[in-house]
Amino acid sequence: MRPHIICHMGTSIDGRLHPSRFTRPAGGVPVDTLRRHYEEVAGRFEAEGWIVGRVTMAEMAKGRERTFADAPRVPREPHVANRNGRSLAVAIDPSGRVHYGQDNVGGDHVVAVLGEHVSDGYLAELRGDGVSYLFAGPDGHDVSGAMAQLAAVFGVKKLLLEGGGKVNGAFLKHRLIDEFSTLIHPAVDGLAGTPSIVDYDGADSERPGVGQALRLIGCETLEGGMVWLRHAVEEAPAAAQL
Ligand SMILES: NC(=O)c1ccc[n+]([C@@H]2O[C@H](COP(=O)([O-])OP(=O)(O)OC[C@H]3O[C@@H](n4cnc5c(N)ncnc54)[C@H](OP(=O)(O)O)[C@@H]3O)[C@@H](O)[C@H]2O)c1
Repeated sequence: MRPHIICHMGTSIDGRLHPSRFTRPAGGVPVDTLRRHYEEVAGRFEAEGWIVGRVTMAEMAKGRERTFADAPRVPREPHVANRNGRSLAVAIDPSGRVHYGQDNVGGDHVVAVLGEHVSDGYLAELRGDGVSYLFAGPDGHDVSGAMAQLAAVFGVKKLLLEGGGKVNGAFLKHRLIDEFSTLIHPAVDGLAGTPSIVDYDGADSERPGVGQALRLIGCETLEGGMVWLRHAVEEAPAAAQL
């Protein structure tokens, strides 16, 4: 069993990832009105936490690297710190590059998803910060196994997947996304090759969404002209049924 996972993202009409690159809102549309929708819509899902990739979490975490030269060797088993009833802030961080300095990000309890190869010193740093952690196999890329552990160890049933594009792409490839919640800004990025909200790192021949189909389950126009789309992810019908 794993949690129900909703990929919740804001994007431009060309599917791009970086809001700082979007065109400005039209006259009379306050930027704050558009910005507000992201958290308001996220709240409607009543999820028990959120998941982000290492790059996105590094932009939010405020800690500094510390040295634990004599850290004891510890087994690569889940470590549950004091969650204290809080929502979870889950970081997919295979090499243990993010430093927290505290047990939460924005008030939500941090759970680091790591590769087993991370150092004992890094694990000592996380325990010192009060951060929980678990392992996604030797290289940290077994995201399916990590999601099953999150359900088993923390009892979570619903989580938001909130980017960036790389980690969303990995979750799509592993068929871990149950629903997309996409907020389309009335804006465009426009530059060829800029990152998109689902950006699986693979060869040109790969199709990370193969075998999956999207069914539109919601479409709402929000104040300021933002469009909120909801798609359920289903098993694709056999080719003969298309
Ligand atoms: N528009 C939005 O709503 C929105 C939402 C969130 C974030 N963002 C923006 O997105 C940007 C970051 O996006 P991003 O795509 O560059 O990075 P990301 O998805 O945040 O993180 C990618 C990293 O996750 C790790 N990872 C773990 N397992 C992986 C796997 N199976 N496949 C691939 N990566 C895996 C890798 O870390 P290692 O390199 O350490 O191995 C990889 O480099 C930020 O600038 C952020 O502000 C936008």
